[in-house]
Amino acid sequence: MPAITRFGVIVGAATGLFSCLGNCQSLTTTPTLASTGTLTRSGVPTGAAPSGGPGGTPPGGGTGGGSGTVNSGTGLYVLTDDQVVSGGSYSCEANDTSVFIANGTVSATLIDVTVVKSGDTSSDDDSSFYGLNAGILAIDQAVLNITGGSVQDTGEGSDGVFAYGDSTIYISGTRINVTGGNSGGIEAAGGGTMYASNLIIDANNKAAIRSDRGGGFMVVDGGEYRTSGAQGAPAVYSTANITVKNAILTAAGSEALVIEGLNELTITNCTVSGNMGVSGTQELHNVMLYQSMSGDAEDGTSEFTMIGGSLESLSGCMFYITNTAAIVTLSGAELTLSGDSSYLFNVSGNDASNGWGSVGSNGGNATLNLSGQTVAGDIYADPISILNIDIADSSALTGAINPDGTTAAGLAVTIDSTSTWVLNADSYVTSFTGSLDNVEQGSYTLFVNNTAASA
Ligand SMILES: *[C@@H]1O[C@H](CO)[C@@H](O)[C@H](O)[C@H]1NC(C)=O
Ligand SMILES: *[C@@H]1O[C@H](CO)[C@@H](O)[C@H](O)[C@H]1NC(C)=O
Ligand SMILES: *[C@@H]1O[C@H](CO)[C@@H](O)[C@H](O)[C@H]1NC(C)=O
Ligand SMILES: *[C@@H]1O[C@H](CO)[C@@H](O)[C@H](O)[C@H]1NC(C)=O
Ligand SMILES: *[C@@H]1O[C@H](CO)[C@@H](O)[C@H](O)[C@H]1NC(C)=O
Ligand SMILES: *[C@@H]1O[C@H](CO)[C@@H](O)[C@H](O)[C@H]1NC(C)=O
Ligand SMILES: *[C@@H]1O[C@H](CO)[C@@H](O)[C@H](O)[C@H]1NC(C)=O
Ligand SMILES: *[C@@H]1O[C@H](CO)[C@@H](O)[C@H](O)[C@H]1NC(C)=O
Ligand SMILES: *[C@@H]1O[C@H](CO)[C@@H](O)[C@H](O)[C@H]1NC(C)=O
Ligand SMILES: *[C@@H]1O[C@H](CO)[C@@H](O)[C@H](O)[C@H]1NC(C)=O
Repeated sequence: MPAITRFGVIVGAATGLFSCLGNCQSLTTTPTLASTGTLTRSGVPTGAAPSGGPGGTPPGGGTGGGSGTVNSGTGLYVLTDDQVVSGGSYSCEANDTSVFIANGTVSATLIDVTVVKSGDTSSDDDSSFYGLNAGILAIDQAVLNITGGSVQDTGEGSDGVFAYGDSTIYISGTRINVTGGNSGGIEAAGGGTMYASNLIIDANNKAAIRSDRGGGFMVVDGGEYRTSGAQGAPAVYSTANITVKNAILTAAGSEALVIEGLNELTITNCTVSGNMGVSGTQELHNVMLYQSMSGDAEDGTSEFTMIGGSLESLSGCMFYITNTAAIVTLSGAELTLSGDSSYLFNVSGNDASNGWGSVGSNGGNATLNLSGQTVAGDIYADPISILNIDIADSSALTGAINPDGTTAAGLAVTIDSTSTWVLNADSYVTSFTGSLDNVEQGSYTLFVNNTAASA
């Protein structure tokens, strides 16, 4: 790290004066900058376009559609290599302009910096896909290290902190408030990487931990991630490879978690809750694995793993799987259905009104893997869906499977000798592997292909 010197006035900020529409509070502060650092402005990037999609209706992270041309806008303060900005308040009201941008092969550090962003995007898609108008934006191969400080972001289409392309952001101990439409807390897209720890995020309209087209890699450790949006604002929306541990994830008006397409989300030792208020034509749910067909996520198996911690649904079934292949693994988590639904798992087609596949062929192909997991709740797979349930490693399931007698396209239950399944209604499967000694049928009956199972 180069020697740090003080600048009375930020050299490049004079340029910013003409574009930050009279809210250049930073000009009156005296932030500490690296001796190599002058803050200057940049232009608008161009680049290769990812393929556009037909445009479905994703609920929380994705937006569908898209112009296809990379547009990350500009940044008011352009970070240079090895630059350290320590303290101070930086703000920008200009549309399509981030407060800070790190671009190219730059490696820069922000310590205890207050960032205030307002001003709107000219394209919600470009904001979601490329970070246009984000509070703090890293693109290209930039590496940005943010510690402490805060981001207060009221712009439309303005994610708090955004890693796009080959960039990497390390962020720790930062307070992020995001209130604008189509704006999330932290986001990775286009392959971006983010390591976040101990953040406190409040986001009103999109996911607190968000990803979009092109995916990326995010690891979040510790902190609180809250959303309040009435629709489309899960705590986490994954079109990427996201791991969250030791954190509190709360969606006050939406489903808790969403995974789209060939992507994964691993939640370890977290306290998670969702409270989906508006469903449209969807099944009310707490966690959804699906394919929106918007082009934001590749087709493939959506994976969700929960280890330890707790997951509460205040509204709707716990897991809803539609129009995708999926693997859900639960191990040592405490699951609670507090709403009206008694369903732990629903693998079904949808009415296609959101563009999620075609009626008759948009079911799911899911695996539910219970490993060291005790859980209660009913399970359903519709006639165009496949569900394999593996109950193993001292797991205990209490609930019925397709109690209304529906025959799924495939519904296979495998149970090992250390686990139990307690029926609370008649259950209908197409295959059973294991010993009936591990199934407590009580006064109910397990039917395999409509024939009562017998030892
Ligand atoms: C990033 O840097 C490249 C190369 O200098 C430039 O073409 C592009 O406009 C910059 N992008 C932004 C958003 O500043
Ligand atoms: C900024 O965006 C808003 C909303 O689209 C628009 O009303 C306003 O005119 C824009 N401002 C400028 C300077 O372009
Ligand atoms: C980020 O900066 C903090 C404090 O300035 C430092 O402790 C930490 O090691 C840095 N992280 C990385 C990944 O460089
Ligand atoms: C974020 O919002 C909370 C609650 O409204 C408030 O207490 C806090 O000061 C805000 N922080 C910032 C950085 O805006
Ligand atoms: C996702 O990231 C985890 C590490 O956090 C890694 O083990 C896993 O292989 C990654 N998955 C993919 C598909 O790259
Ligand atoms: C689990 O997460 C909580 C924070 O929600 C943390 O206090 C606790 O130490 C974590 N437990 C383990 C074993 O890491
Ligand atoms: C499962 O979800 C479908 C919508 O995809 C819904 O029609 C059905 O009623 C749900 N089944 C159960 C048992 O909740
Ligand atoms: C369903 O998923 C399983 C496991 O991933 C796979 O072997 C099978 O081919 C899939 N079935 C269909 C019809 O896609
Ligand atoms: C189920 O999950 C456990 C724990 O992650 C793993 O060891 C096992 O291989 C998984 N089983 C299947 C059938 O995927
Ligand atoms: C149940 O019926 C399906 C479809 O006809 C068949 O593939 C499967 O082998 C049958 N299972 C048993 C246990 O008979």
